[in-house]
Amino acid sequence: MNDKVNELRGKINELLERVEAFKPKVAAEIEDFRIRMLGKKGEVTALMEDFKSIAPELKREFGQKLNNLKNRTLEQINKLREEAEAQGGAGENRIGDMSRPGSAEQLGSRHPLSLVTNQIVEVFSRLGYTVAEGPEIENDWHVFSALNFPPEHPARDMQDTFFVEKNPDILLRTHTSSIQVRVMEHQKPPIRVICPGRVFRNEAISYRAHCIFHQIEGLYIDEGVSFADLKQSILYFAKEIFGEGATIRMRPSYFPFTEPSAEVDVSCNLCGGKGCNVCKGTGWLEIMGCGMVDPNVLENCGIDSKRYSGFAFGMGVERIAMLKYGVKDLRLYFENDVRFLHQFDSAL
Ligand code: DAH
Repeated sequence: MNDKVNELRGKINELLERVEAFKPKVAAEIEDFRIRMLGKKGEVTALMEDFKSIAPELKREFGQKLNNLKNRTLEQINKLREEAEAQGGAGENRIGDMSRPGSAEQLGSRHPLSLVTNQIVEVFSRLGYTVAEGPEIENDWHVFSALNFPPEHPARDMQDTFFVEKNPDILLRTHTSSIQVRVMEHQKPPIRVICPGRVFRNEAISYRAHCIFHQIEGLYIDEGVSFADLKQSILYFAKEIFGEGATIRMRPSYFPFTEPSAEVDVSCNLCGGKGCNVCKGTGWLEIMGCGMVDPNVLENCGIDSKRYSGFAFGMGVERIAMLKYGVKDLRLYFENDVRFLHQFDSAL
């Protein structure tokens, strides 16, 4: 009789240990385990049968032990089931349906200004241009003086320029043309650079103006570069960005650093040149300024203006992005409203 009692005690302890140590590798093992322990022919169930034949004075002790074993087994099974359901895995032994579809990763989208900048840089890199950058905090020389701005030019005025320090003037660059000066100072022709960057002007913020915006500057210097080269390059750019049907026209203009200077219009891609409210009925949209680099500027930067000539152009990225994507309010670019940004999810 004593043997039988000891055997029963040992068996209960052994089963308890197995329950505690049970770590399924796949979810289906949990149900197998339940059947092996608590099923009709299960090991815990078999002990319950043995209990019937036990001496009455031992019933109390074994009743408690067996109940405890049964409850622990059930608890453990339920816990493992919940874990398996919640995460498809349990601790180090992952349980999971390997054929289940994966959960989708939330991808961000590129900012429209980055999209357009990348596209423009890519178009010009196909023409052999490389990217150059420069500092946002500049001195008067690189932003104005070297670019042939006369001392009394209104662009130097406090109304336009954010000054960091006066005398000598340190300021936030008002255009990316400062980068062309830096490039010419450090490189020898032939030069072909495209210069994207952030610029700053003291303007009231509205749907069409901001105190921070982005420009892309282009510069091409070599022997025998002509206005015809400029025109052809800009036409190629316009077709690449606005479509094969795009045409351009150039209007005479004035910039201190180019002579002759022009403003470039592209045919309105919304109405196809017939006239609409975006192009204000003209069929044309202004996209950039350009011209032949003034010989004074070349000389200021240490380039022999008798031997070399070149062209430069500058455009606003916000404006190109507005025309390309139909964005009506410039402030949207700076608010980072995800409802706006997610509209560019599929753009590359
Ligand atoms: N820097 C001019 C601006 O901010 C744009 C520009 C016009 C750049 C003509 C050029 C150019 O390189 O040739 O308005």
